[in-house]
Amino acid sequence: MRLQRKTALITGASKGIGMSVARAFAHEGASLILVSRNINKQDEIVRELEKEGIKFIFRRVDVGERAQVRNLVNDALSIFGKIDVLFNNAGISRPAMLWKMTPEIWNEVIKVNLNGVFYCLQAVAETMMVQQGGSIINVTSSEALLGTFGQINYAAAKGAVHALTKSAAKELARYNIRVNSIAPMAMTEMTKVIFQDNRFQDKYRQRIAMNRFAQPEEIAPAVLFLASDESSYITGQTICVDGGMVMR
Ligand SMILES: NC(=O)c1ccc[n+]([C@@H]2O[C@H](COP(=O)([O-])OP(=O)(O)OC[C@H]3O[C@@H](n4cnc5c(N)ncnc54)[C@H](OP(=O)(O)O)[C@@H]3O)[C@@H](O)[C@H]2O)c1
Repeated sequence: MRLQRKTALITGASKGIGMSVARAFAHEGASLILVSRNINKQDEIVRELEKEGIKFIFRRVDVGERAQVRNLVNDALSIFGKIDVLFNNAGISRPAMLWKMTPEIWNEVIKVNLNGVFYCLQAVAETMMVQQGGSIINVTSSEALLGTFGQINYAAAKGAVHALTKSAAKELARYNIRVNSIAPMAMTEMTKVIFQDNRFQDKYRQRIAMNRFAQPEEIAPAVLFLASDESSYITGQTICVDGGMVMR
């Protein structure tokens, strides 16, 4: 098993990409700390892992609140003693064209998608530095790498995540901590607006070389690879798991 004896913290684990990564990590033997604002014991992933007898906890945390993130990491350490992997995945989108974007919508997205990523990265890196090892996987987006319409807040936050991934990778390499990111494209609640409108869907699909959308299950293997020792010599990279939407 590729993550045996490893403990992984997954933010945004209640649905979408985070949920499918939780499933993949559990299958490979990891112990899990599942995080979202509303996760509860009725959730599909919680019921599933309980049935499988996996060692895991779930915590309701807003990653945009630094004190909550600090408490979460302390709580996780008191239970598991270490954190080997962080999948820094929680995110939201609040679309609006530039001229309609209010400071409230701007700040809401920056708070979760950028500040939240930083709070989790910093808190977990501290413990990984003591452990002298770990793997951190952030989540950026094609919208940061290519630009987009109607989501300047989201693109700005994800662009910053792309940049901070490289800086953190440089700072943390000496502690044997690798920091990478993925830029996914998958059908989830966040992207359902694309799939509910046929014209929008066709237009979007034309931007994808493989001309189809993925389920979150097709994103998880790339995250598993970056989390595992198979990627032991890879750091500071962004892997686009998007059917060829972004080619660099
Ligand atoms: N789907 C795509 O094609 C795509 C493309 C590019 C990038 N991404 C990125 O991939 C990541 C996962 O997206 P997804 O498509 O799986 O979205 P999703 O299905 O909407 O899931 C988002 C997850 O984040 C959690 N979350 C949101 N705000 C949070 C907060 N403040 N604190 C803690 N948890 C929070 C949500 O749970 P609660 O609501 O319970 O908090 C949920 O578990 C995001 O960072 C997204 O920006 C996705």
